[in-house]
Amino acid sequence: MNSPIAKTSSTVRKDTRVIDGLNLVLADSYALMALTHLAHWNVEGPDFFQLHQAFQKQYEEMFEAVDEIAERVRALEAYAIGGLGTLAKVAQMEEFKSPAPQKDYVAALIVAHEKVIDDAVGTRDLSGEAGDLESQDLLIGRIASHQKTLWMLKSYLKS
Ligand SMILES: [Fe+2]
Repeated sequence: MNSPIAKTSSTVRKDTRVIDGLNLVLADSYALMALTHLAHWNVEGPDFFQLHQAFQKQYEEMFEAVDEIAERVRALEAYAIGGLGTLAKVAQMEEFKSPAPQKDYVAALIVAHEKVIDDAVGTRDLSGEAGDLESQDLLIGRIASHQKTLWMLKSYLKS
């Protein structure tokens, strides 16, 4: 016999706004991951080693995150978006010129992280409204992670 509690905990709360929001955050994160990878490859200057390594840590973290976000979409019985063209179109992430001075990479990545955070905050709030606390939890984790990276990037730019 199924108890009402067991039934509730195994039922996913589907809301197309949440699914669209998760796919947007997926696209944003993928776009930012690609930009961070680009910065990792082409950064030059006296801080080469620390920036090259910091960017690697960041894109590796995002590589795991995009998989988690996509699989949350699947857990909601919807489909994840993918493919570079589709992801770029959905993300609408501004791309920066490369090569560029080392501080320009950091400044451009700050703007990109802020874009991801804005979209993740919107989707976090929609998840809350929809009662989808698992998606909300995932998004809270993503926001905290991007906020931490933002703090580090901004600290680097302080003179
Ligand atoms: Fe590398």
